[in-house]
Amino acid sequence: MALRVAPYPHLRLRRLRQSSSARSLFQENHLLPKDLIYPIFIRESTDLAEIPTMPGVIRHLVEELPDEIEEAYRLGIRAVLLFPKTPDALKTDDGAEAFNSNNLVCQAIRKIKQHVPEMVVFTDIALDPYTTHGHDGILKNGDVDNDSTIEALVKQSMNQVAAGADGICPSDMMDGRIQAIREALESSGHSNVLLISYGVKYASCFYGPFRGAVGASLRGNKKSYQLNPANLTEALREISQDIMEGADGVIIKPGLPYLDVIASAKDYGVPLWAYQVSGEYAMIRYAGQAGAIDEEKAFYETCLSFKRAGASKIITYAAKKIAKCLTKIMD
Ligand code: PBG
Repeated sequence: MALRVAPYPHLRLRRLRQSSSARSLFQENHLLPKDLIYPIFIRESTDLAEIPTMPGVIRHLVEELPDEIEEAYRLGIRAVLLFPKTPDALKTDDGAEAFNSNNLVCQAIRKIKQHVPEMVVFTDIALDPYTTHGHDGILKNGDVDNDSTIEALVKQSMNQVAAGADGICPSDMMDGRIQAIREALESSGHSNVLLISYGVKYASCFYGPFRGAVGASLRGNKKSYQLNPANLTEALREISQDIMEGADGVIIKPGLPYLDVIASAKDYGVPLWAYQVSGEYAMIRYAGQAGAIDEEKAFYETCLSFKRAGASKIITYAAKKIAKCLTKIMD
């Protein structure tokens, strides 16, 4: 776009910022509570609520969910994303607990849909909360095997959908999984289930606190399936492929270090969601606790940046905090 700009003093852009009302009048992007998706960790009573490196975020018991979800709904949040902390004793090499119709996530889905049916419930599809090795799929010769992992992901998806999930978010980065899951949904009569794929998930250091939260002790790294942080073209190919395979929307993750990816994908014409991941959350919280920045403003500003870049929704652990402070005027 070629900008046409009159020379000074005919154009004084400070005119647009001269008062609070003028700034509101010329504001290009807005952040609303309904733009926020709230990720929630779930635990068994044998596990601790506190998450060491995510101050202010706790793991919830299933019976605590109705109150937590009702509060989020009252604040204007319309969707949650669930992650289980599976007890170590239930973890196996093949992550079979993911297919248990009474696992923590399935219990949580049923509880939420029973008490706050208006809340849209999304779940994560990947095996890492259930495997002993902490990888997202099934290992063969030391690497995650693509095609047998897809079969497992389809089973995991069907299990969560049977429990009542409104939407599923595959975060595993296997090739071809969106098509396989979409076909399975169609052929089982679940044509209304939302499929929001992690179109791009980078092999990032910013997932550290999350792995602690779900108790995953990762052997090695995820670089053979998650994207190289140096690449943009490959990210756009990943996004295009997921759209072609039937994704209803695409998540870009992490968020703030990858605003260029969001901006580059916004013309694809599908809903784009940014994920402000655990490490981004921790950075803001710790800087806030140290008195280095105002954390409410930092959450507001970063989420607004996601909207400006082209994201329509933001997944953030600070969703409730942000929704509360949006009621104050952010001038
Ligand atoms: C699982 C998954 C991860 C995150 C979301 N889903 C971790 C990983 O890939 O290791 C990270 C989210 C966060 O850091 O907040 N596949």
